[in-house]
Amino acid sequence: MYKAPRGTSDILPEEQGYWRHVTDVAASIGLLYGYRPIATPIFEDAQLFLRSAAVGTDLADKEMYVFNDPGGQQLSLKAEGTAPVCRAYLEHGMFNLPQPVKLYYITPAFRFERPQAGRYRQHYQCGFEAIGEADPIIDAELIDLAQRFLCSLGLSEFSIGLNSIGCQTCQPQYVEALKEYYSSYFSELCPDCELRFVRNPLRLLDCKKEHCHKIADAAPKTLDYLCTECQTHFKDVQHYLVALRIPFSIKHRLVRGLDYYSRTVFEIEPLEEKSQSALGGGGRYDNLIEQLGGNPTPAVGFATGVERIIANLHKQGVSIASCTAPVAFIAHMGKEAKLAAIELGARLRRSGVSVVIATGSKSLKSQLRQANSLNTSYAIIIGEQELSTATVVLRDMKAKGQTTIPLAHIEKALS
Ligand code: HAM
Repeated sequence: MYKAPRGTSDILPEEQGYWRHVTDVAASIGLLYGYRPIATPIFEDAQLFLRSAAVGTDLADKEMYVFNDPGGQQLSLKAEGTAPVCRAYLEHGMFNLPQPVKLYYITPAFRFERPQAGRYRQHYQCGFEAIGEADPIIDAELIDLAQRFLCSLGLSEFSIGLNSIGCQTCQPQYVEALKEYYSSYFSELCPDCELRFVRNPLRLLDCKKEHCHKIADAAPKTLDYLCTECQTHFKDVQHYLVALRIPFSIKHRLVRGLDYYSRTVFEIEPLEEKSQSALGGGGRYDNLIEQLGGNPTPAVGFATGVERIIANLHKQGVSIASCTAPVAFIAHMGKEAKLAAIELGARLRRSGVSVVIATGSKSLKSQLRQANSLNTSYAIIIGEQELSTATVVLRDMKAKGQTTIPLAHIEKALS
């Protein structure tokens, strides 16, 4: 028997109501804040992700699904949504449009991670990107959007962590200070952090191991090393957030797992915090477009993980109705009634009523059992008696009562 690959899962019909809920809310929030939908391919040139995530991140080093296509081109399954959107922004000349260009997407993303609760090899993201604007007002508006998105879905128990990691001018000095601090703890670091020390020191702050965590807690803070411009930018972001009444807390160890960020970074955690639990995260990526071959273009964005949102909807007791039940089930007894059933089914579907017609020649009891398991509102029963009198039996599956009505009145009875 084949099984879904490790770290992937099927989204069965009974879960689809939750998925539809998340995608509907994403679309209405997008509209509310002036974001337009975009979809990019499932695979891209592998270098797009390798250049944007940069060496020393888990994503670039060991999590990408890279392969050569039969034509010999090195491709990668989409590892995240931001770099492809930036690629599309450049490829389609969106820099010629009034800025910022605001785009949102719902996409699967593929990462070869060790699967565990809330961490999958294929997961879905809802992402929002505002490209072409440096004004801190857009950072705050995006965090407001993130908060409104989660609240509109029905979630309430989450917190927003905020930090600034500086820019190309001030971050190098911070990294030097960080390395100096960590050099006296080098022998105590976990093997991953030893590597981070050499390849990507900022990531030291994000280690989940308890001992490294304690060392990171006392490490120098990015905020103490910001240049004047970054200080002002961060102060303004906070100022706008206060005006918008968005509760947030400064998290000194918040640096994000991808390497393209500068200045504002933020993450949204459920209140019951676990290591792999972030509901969403994002920040500024003012250098990414230039890194991908464009002119210097400031940008800011964030993405949420759909599976984690749905898990939290379940955890917080938010129930979403399943949207898959047909209105009516047509049961029939006898060959002629079966013909009448398929004709009636076609007639009802033409007038927009969703129906399932019984197949085979099962007993009425077993046909009604099927209607019950499909959760239809009505069963329409056609037998010899009904055929001869041009009527049908209409059974209310919830109230369990039934009446005989003229066939000609069926649409009216179901409306
Ligand atoms: P990210 O933090 O890597 O950021 O992913 C965004 C969200 O996707 C996470 O907060 C989490 O909810 C979910 N997620 C990530 N990896 C997994 C996984 N293996 N299994 C389940 N859920 C996962 C980005 O991808 C950036 N592109 C976000 C962004 C947009 N930054 C700026 N614009």
